[in-house]
Order: sequence, then structure tokens, then C-alpha cells
Amino acid sequence: TDFETILLERKGRVALVTLNRPKALNALNSQVLTDISAALDELEADEEIGAVVLTGSERAFAAGADIKEMQSKSYMDMYLADHFAGWDRLVAFRKPIIAAVAGYALGGGCELAMMCDLLIAADTAKFGQPEIKLGVIPGMGGSQRLTRAVGKAKAMDLILTGRNMDAEEAERAGLVSRIVPAAELVATALEVAATIASMSLPSVMIAKEAVNRSFETTLGEGLRFERRVFHSLFATADQKEGMAAFVEKRAANFGNR
Ligand code: HXC
Repeated sequence: TDFETILLERKGRVALVTLNRPKALNALNSQVLTDISAALDELEADEEIGAVVLTGSERAFAAGADIKEMQSKSYMDMYLADHFAGWDRLVAFRKPIIAAVAGYALGGGCELAMMCDLLIAADTAKFGQPEIKLGVIPGMGGSQRLTRAVGKAKAMDLILTGRNMDAEEAERAGLVSRIVPAAELVATALEVAATIASMSLPSVMIAKEAVNRSFETTLGEGLRFERRVFHSLFATADQKEGMAAFVEKRAANFGNR
């Protein structure tokens, strides 16, 4: 399928989605959302795909929601359209998505990266929630996800002043899982994704669901959820294969599900 604002490539069991609005530093307009949603529908239904990498350009992962598209909207325009609600599609995607971030990840760009499951940053990455400088606040999850990721002190600092933080600060704060040289960013993210995609698909999908559940529920309910879904994996061929491979001292060959 061809998309207007993204590129979609399949590399074995991994899909690479590249934001492709270079003239607008990958600002997220409604077409980007339409394209990403369609790509995710396709990738979720595809049994061959085990993980996804989402990236931008060297200069910008995404410089935010498209300010020019929002500029003249009224309250009722935003409220009736439930502007930004469509991004829930990405949050509902059940396979792992790795955000590979180089350059600017600002506003909606930072929020998009935080909707992903893990975040790998180039040493050039700059994260921020500059919406306060536009007379608004984060609207795609920044006040909630950034606060959970880095804690109240740093979230308040970033969201109230609109300043950027570099990759080092983002890693220290726990927002990103690793920093790599910019030239190795996409290759590293694809390697991590390939490792994930080589595991049992139901295990991977259920592991993602279980970790995400921890953000939505109490510890007791989360532990019960984990135990139930852990038990359910004993219904899979991949569990038999994984444990047999360990006992027989050989590599596991997952895929019978
Ligand atoms: C629309 C954008 C854009 C954006 C950049 N561009 N960011 N267009 N929406 N968010 C466009 C510019 O208008 C310009 O187009 C082109 O991309 C290149 O950008 P420059 O500003 O010329 O580049 P540079 O000087 O290198 O500065 C890069 C930058 C700056 C620091 C990232 O572009 C910037 O501050 N962008 C806005 C960042 C931001 O505020 N993001 C939050 C958006 S609000 P032209 O055609 O002029 O050459 C948001 C959530 C909203 O995300 C939630 C509340 C509703």
C-alpha cells in the first residue's frame, strides 16, 4: 500500500514505519494519523509481523502536532471532532512498537514517542512539551505519560517552561531505554525489534499487555491479571517448544503459536 505521509517497509518479521513530511519536520496532521492507523491495521492483522519500529528523519522524529492545521480551530471544532482521540489507535495496537528518535521530538512528537512501548534515542534527540509557549497544553497524553515516565518534578519543569531536554537527560530521567550514535539509530532499533519478533508472538503480545496493565490498575489486580495470562500461555505450542529447547540445550524455534 502507498501512503501520503509515511513509508512502510517490511524487513522479515519487522515493519519499519518512517514519518515522511520532511518540509514540516514531520508535524502530525490528520493525514499522518490516517496513514499510521491504516498501516497499523495492516500490520496487526499480519501474522508474519512481530514488532514495529516507528522513526522520523535525522532532523526530526516529529516537531509536534501540525500548528498550521490547528491554528484557526474553535473550541467546538476541537471538542466535536474529539481532536487527537484518533491516536488511541496506536495505543491499542497489540504488538510492540519501538520509537527510534533522532532530532526533535516535541509536543505531539514527544507524546507519539511515549505512546510507543520502548524508546531508543539517537544522541541528537531533543524531547520537549513546548505547548505552553503556544498558549495551550499537551493534548496527546504529555501531562499524563511524561509524568509517569519521569516523575512530577521534571514533568512540571518541562511542561511549564516548554524547555527541551537532550538524550542524556531523557535517559537519566527514565524516558528512553538506550542512547545510540545517530548513524546507528535505525539499525539498532531494527535489531531490537528483530529480537522481539523472534520470540513467541502470543508471549510478546501478552507481555506488552501485562506491562501496560500496570499503568491502569492496582498492584493486586495487576498481579492477578499477570498470573491468569501467564497460565494461559501453557495452552501454546510455543511454550512447549521454548521449554523443550531449554531442556534439550538447543535454540528455540517459535512460530507454531
Ligand atoms: C506545523 C511545523 C511544525 C509544527 C515545524 N514546522 N514544526 N509546521 N506544525 N509543529 C514547519 C515550520 O513551520 C517550517 O515550515 C518547517 O517546518 C521547518 O521548521 P523551522 O522552524 O524553519 O525549523 P528550525 O528553525 O530548525 O526549528 C525547528 C523547531 C521549530 C525548533 C522544531 O520548527 C519549532 O519550534 N516547531 C514547533 C514545535 C512545537 O511547538 N511543537 C508543539 C506543537 S503543539 P515553513 O513552511 O515555515 O518553512 C503540539 C500539541 C498540541 O504538538 C496540543 C494542544 C492542542
